[in-house]
Amino acid sequence: MASQTHISPLLFLAAIATAAAKLTPEWRVVSAAKGVTTRARIDATSQLCAVHGEAVVEASVAELMSVFGDLDQHGHWDATLVDAREWTGADGGTYVYQRFKQPWPVRDRELVLRRREWRRNQTVSVHFESVDEGTPVAPGAVRTLAHTVWWNFTAVSETETLISHYSCVDPGGAIPAWARDLAVQRWCQSQILALVDTARRLGLRPVPAFASWGAPRAVELLRADPPPQPRVTPASAPFQFEPR
Ligand SMILES: *[C@@H]1O[C@H](CO)[C@@H](O)[C@H](O)[C@H]1NC(C)=O
Ligand SMILES: *[C@@H]1O[C@H](CO)[C@@H](O)[C@H](O)[C@H]1NC(C)=O
Repeated sequence: MASQTHISPLLFLAAIATAAAKLTPEWRVVSAAKGVTTRARIDATSQLCAVHGEAVVEASVAELMSVFGDLDQHGHWDATLVDAREWTGADGGTYVYQRFKQPWPVRDRELVLRRREWRRNQTVSVHFESVDEGTPVAPGAVRTLAHTVWWNFTAVSETETLISHYSCVDPGGAIPAWARDLAVQRWCQSQILALVDTARRLGLRPVPAFASWGAPRAVELLRADPPPQPRVTPASAPFQFEPR
């Protein structure tokens, strides 16, 4: 047993190195650490690095949404966020502007996104995609294009949530492809962990609309077979995800 625990981290590092060096159109695990399983692949349409991250975290949907659902709190979640606003477009849709500070000599990144949200069956799904609705690029910034970003939160219990995150984003600017790919892969895990951390640290009022999510219902407690629980797909299991 002891030798196995010594060898597996090495094998795992080798796996990361291989994955970082060569992404394919097939999903592969690039990291499984701190409870977050991160997979990456080359998106066939855009040729960008698409990333999928999953974790069951110890926070309720209502707690997570106290940060995720409130743009005013996003600066606590990501300290590089230096400007953010949300507005309703002429079409009635919700739009979001975000600007992220970057260390010199990398130029700041900004996004203009359309935000859509669905709530069903104990899951809140939030979809973002870049739009060009005429907002000029801020001086000194580079426009990042989000082809598709999903943030899905499924109540596992009153105190646990399955977070499922997907992003296919072109950061823009002159970054070597390998550095860009590595950055989006790391960003995935760190964003998930930082969100949980921020929700805990701020301890804001859980969002009432999600208050009872994850609570067992009497009828389920009476069933011989409880309903299936959302689980993270194990790193070793086959994995399919096609964004819509
Ligand atoms: C809702 O979730 C339950 C439990 O995970 C699942 O069995 C059921 O199929 C889901 N229903 C829909 C419409 O997705
Ligand atoms: C999020 O939920 C939506 C709606 O059910 C689904 O179409 C999408 O594939 C999900 N994304 C992820 C990353 O789980």
